[in-house]
Amino acid sequence: MAWDLLVDRADLARTELVEVPTPRIGAGQALLKVDRVGMTANNVTYAVFGDAMRYWDFFPAEAPWGRVPLWGFGVVEHSAVPGLAEGTRLYGYYPTGSHLVVEPTKLDARGFRDASAHRQHLPTPYNGLTTTGEDPAYEAAREDLQVLYRPLFLTSFMLADFLTDNDLFGAGTAVISSASSKTAYGAAFLLQGRTRTVGLTSEANVGFTESLGCYDQVLTYDEVGQLPTSRTVYIDVAGNAGVRRAVHEHLGEALVHSAVVGAAHHTAEPDLGGGAGSLPGARPTFFFAPDQMRKRYADWGPAGVEREHAAAWRRFAPVVEGWVEVILGTGPEALQADWLETLAGQTRPRTGHVVQL
Ligand SMILES: NC(=O)c1ccc[n+]([C@@H]2O[C@H](COP(=O)([O-])OP(=O)(O)OC[C@H]3O[C@@H](n4cnc5c(N)ncnc54)[C@H](OP(=O)(O)O)[C@@H]3O)[C@@H](O)[C@H]2O)c1
Repeated sequence: MAWDLLVDRADLARTELVEVPTPRIGAGQALLKVDRVGMTANNVTYAVFGDAMRYWDFFPAEAPWGRVPLWGFGVVEHSAVPGLAEGTRLYGYYPTGSHLVVEPTKLDARGFRDASAHRQHLPTPYNGLTTTGEDPAYEAAREDLQVLYRPLFLTSFMLADFLTDNDLFGAGTAVISSASSKTAYGAAFLLQGRTRTVGLTSEANVGFTESLGCYDQVLTYDEVGQLPTSRTVYIDVAGNAGVRRAVHEHLGEALVHSAVVGAAHHTAEPDLGGGAGSLPGARPTFFFAPDQMRKRYADWGPAGVEREHAAAWRRFAPVVEGWVEVILGTGPEALQADWLETLAGQTRPRTGHVVQL
């Protein structure tokens, strides 16, 4: 049986689970069965910016519906592609549904790119599917960590690398909002020893964020006024316009770089740089991990990027194992429940939702 979890693009809390015919494949195509996926605030951001950033285009659905992109593992169920064996396990970008039809190109032992026509205008890092055998960061016993953290940690890694690459814009402090989020604390972990870090979080998540031990200081959003006014970079993961304004107004010219990374607080005026011109200090600029990745592909080559990222991941994985409690759900109903809970911002930061479909 095949199914889709459909999300109303104009009202993300309206969802429907529908049975659909199992997709058929033609020559040069493969049918993947979605197997195990994760759900975090990042997936909500894909939907919130689904139109603006074209995230809805990856896995089209008939209006008003959309299928939200997820990260995880799938398995080749049928293959009409020479060299791609049925049963191959692949990590990548999957829809909220049971199946995905792909048209592999650049196929080798490491995986392939999906050359389906509707994906060609979309950023290439999202179109790759990776086998497990040749992936230097893959560890069978840590698949759930990979499901939850791989795209987030790649962003944390690229963000820390981007800041280091720019000598932290001469700053001695990095302030990171939504400090309890996986993307934020991954960056803080990597910035340890390179700069002083201050995490900004909501009142309820101060205890959790402090317990991680990767921030030099943790403040609530109401305590922005306590930030030292020395040269600072701001890493805005929360995407909350009010907090961003408070940070800019408090730090003024001492704020030497302001990077907008996410919009975890999508319920609180999501705004990527709106009103930016009127803010004191450095102008907020969107940090898009694939941009820094492209730079490092040129500097280090793809194998160098993989090696550096894998080395960082192998340092982070054993540590983060103690920071997250993986909650494993089963089947499409669990996926639907996790979507609604994450959308409502009700997930505790220690929780990592993984669904076996
Ligand atoms: N630019 C890029 O390339 C890129 C790549 C990956 C991720 N990101 C972004 O990074 C952000 C964090 O993603 P994640 O998956 O790491 O998050 P996560 O671990 O699921 O984050 C949970 C935290 O986010 C905040 N939060 C979540 N939902 C909220 C809501 N509805 N209202 C208020 N606060 C909410 C809370 O943090 P606090 O209490 O600490 O505020 C919560 O503890 C997302 O916006 C994501 O899109 C960007």
